[in-house]
Amino acid sequence: MPMLNEAVDFIKLYYTENKLPKDQLDKRLKEVEKEIMEYGHYTHTSDELAYGAKVAWRNSNKCIGRLFWQSLQVKDQRAITDEEMIFEKLLEHIEFATNNGKIRPTISVFEPQKVRIWNHQLIRYAGYEQGDGSVIGDSDSLTFTRECIKLGWQGNGGQFDVLPLVIQVENREPRFFEIPKAYIKEVPLRHPEFTWFTDLHLKWYAVPMISSMKLEVGGITYEAAPFNGWYMGTEIGARNLADEYRYNLLPVVAEKMGLNTSSNSSLWKDRALVELNTAVLYSFKEDSVSIVDHHTAAQQFKRFEANEESADRKVTGNWTWLIPPLSPATTHIFHKPYDNTKKSPNYSYQNIPY
Ligand code: ARG
Repeated sequence: MPMLNEAVDFIKLYYTENKLPKDQLDKRLKEVEKEIMEYGHYTHTSDELAYGAKVAWRNSNKCIGRLFWQSLQVKDQRAITDEEMIFEKLLEHIEFATNNGKIRPTISVFEPQKVRIWNHQLIRYAGYEQGDGSVIGDSDSLTFTRECIKLGWQGNGGQFDVLPLVIQVENREPRFFEIPKAYIKEVPLRHPEFTWFTDLHLKWYAVPMISSMKLEVGGITYEAAPFNGWYMGTEIGARNLADEYRYNLLPVVAEKMGLNTSSNSSLWKDRALVELNTAVLYSFKEDSVSIVDHHTAAQQFKRFEANEESADRKVTGNWTWLIPPLSPATTHIFHKPYDNTKKSPNYSYQNIPY
């Protein structure tokens, strides 16, 4: 019974870390065992689920933002099962998490083996392939955008069209729902010194809400469990807008800066990267939308490491993800190894449903 072992490990972890009495632990263990023997699975209490989701964040090896794992707001939505209601709850998540810019790390957990959210993130931009093979919008969304169109969605063909939410319940046809504009907070990008920057008409959405990953707690897998933190600036400025296979904006920015793009050794890419990232941080801050720069995030991660050490826990991590894509060697993370062992509870990738 593999589920039983995992369940026992998690229930023990929950009771010990929360310093709950031993007799209550024993009682709960018996209950869980009985439930598993009888039905092949068990049901977490809301408190167990909430704690599991938090520890799953603590165990997320790729995440530099783990200092705040205990502050995760957990919405137990296991009672919600039809598409319309799920859509309502996702809108509630977006509104609560966005909090008018003062972003609250939040997760909404739906019933296992019932619900799938097809989106990669609750709010994300569409990508459209042009006749000549070029892409308008986010190339990372190409296949999902095609699926939305197949379902009857009509995109505007723009650089920053927010995709609809696509919700599937059991084996029914997935349904798509347009997110009302009022729910979508975006930040127009400008630069503290370069006035021409606004001519680029760039923007990004405020809250990254990952909806494609599954949450595993004590042997139970929650396939629909969208979660969010706030952005680290480099995710937008050094990856989403900069990667050649994403928005590929370094040549455009460098050109505007008047840099010599014909010579690698002019470091035009590096200089354009810094200014693009400056614009992201400056704009989010000016609009009072939560964001963290990579230096501060690394310092916070150092505090997380110290906290874990004090709690007698080993920090696991994925070095290749933890180092920021901009100036990695200026952070302490670059200069030490991390053990990438995967602990449970945790978040992980799952098969794409389309
Ligand atoms: N890297 C992803 C993006 O740029 C978001 C991943 C989650 N990020 C976070 N800060 N919680 O959209």
